[in-house]
Amino acid sequence: FNDDPSTQKRFRAGGETPAPRSLSTRAQLYERVFPQYRQPVEVGVFSLDSERAFFNDSRQLRYYVDPGNKPSFNLRDGYRDRFIKRDDGVKERLDHILRWIVANRPKLHSTHTSSSSCTLGVNFVTWRGHLTKLLTTPYETQEGWLLAVSKFRGTLYMSEVETEAARVNRENRTERHEEMMYWGYKFEQYICADDVNGVPDRGGVVNTNEAFCTVVQTRLADHKLLFSGEVDCRDKDPRAPPAPACYVELKTSAEICTPKQRSNFHRYKLLKWWAQSFLPGVPRIVAGFRDHDGVVVSVETFHISKISQLIKNEYNCWKPTVCMNFCSDFLSFVKSVVKEDNPRLVYLFAWEPHRDVTYTVHRDSQYTFLPDWYIKEMAS
Ligand code: A3P
Ligand code: MG
Ligand code: MG
Repeated sequence: FNDDPSTQKRFRAGGETPAPRSLSTRAQLYERVFPQYRQPVEVGVFSLDSERAFFNDSRQLRYYVDPGNKPSFNLRDGYRDRFIKRDDGVKERLDHILRWIVANRPKLHSTHTSSSSCTLGVNFVTWRGHLTKLLTTPYETQEGWLLAVSKFRGTLYMSEVETEAARVNRENRTERHEEMMYWGYKFEQYICADDVNGVPDRGGVVNTNEAFCTVVQTRLADHKLLFSGEVDCRDKDPRAPPAPACYVELKTSAEICTPKQRSNFHRYKLLKWWAQSFLPGVPRIVAGFRDHDGVVVSVETFHISKISQLIKNEYNCWKPTVCMNFCSDFLSFVKSVVKEDNPRLVYLFAWEPHRDVTYTVHRDSQYTFLPDWYIKEMAS
């Protein structure tokens, strides 16, 4: 923490612990023992259908069908005529998670001695994807982030706000980039069946509104977390371990032809892949490596628990402990800053590469994100 001496004096005179004004993201500062991270427990699931409607069930869960290691999938197939793309200009914020909380409140209560200071029994509610961004921050040099935080009935809700730079990028994607974003979803269609005994339907429509999400509870150091993340598919063997250990993450990446490409894959891509799956306790990733024309030339499985070994030969590579310690310290920083319990008050945490994390405070602004229906529901 970077303490401003004048603030320190002011607060200490009154006997209060001063809240730091910024947080460094330098990786070396976080090289210490791995923090406690409790095995994530799935406390529920939900689905979003082809029109992005919420269902408190697993109707969108799909089953993994082994493609073998040398398939030939053409990821470009269907882009023009069998693709329905989610409108990513629509900001859903935490709404789907909040819907899940409202529908499952008794479940959450029973697992905790509910005190009036923290109604849900957790310190943070957020998306897995937001935590992934926090984990990779000490190594990120390209894209900054904005996280809006409000405290409501003792719980801190954390919702991402799109940066100006991200909006400009989103609104100016090239035709090639637009098509390549489809490839990842097409790969999922080649691998996944809708029914436990079914086969993939490669002639079907790819609709990116559809999603199956797990809701997990865990603890990082002294931070109790409740978060949700999209899950691509599960092991179809009924003897497979219970969720989240039966889940499989699917990924695509450019084929690796040179030592330089392998090194870049380890240093940049595996960091993001590891962070995304480690958080919810998803144990393996099935990756399709594709050529320049979008044809998958090989398929490889990565076990999350083996990734840190795999990257150890890279010079000056990322470290899981740095990611987790930074995340833990950021959550402590948020706890020390966000003191007022008020769903209309937003603390906006901002970070740009090569800078410290800072924050600003906004009352009844464009950043307020907890909806009235949620506040009403929780008050009853
Ligand atoms: P790849 O994973 O093969 O890149 P996920 O892997 O998280 O399940 O996401 C599925 C696909 O959504 C990705 O496939 C990619 O095509 C697309 N995608 C994921 N995150 C994205 C992002 N931030 N921006 C654009 N597309 C994204
Ligand atoms: Mg996914
Ligand atoms: Mg995936």
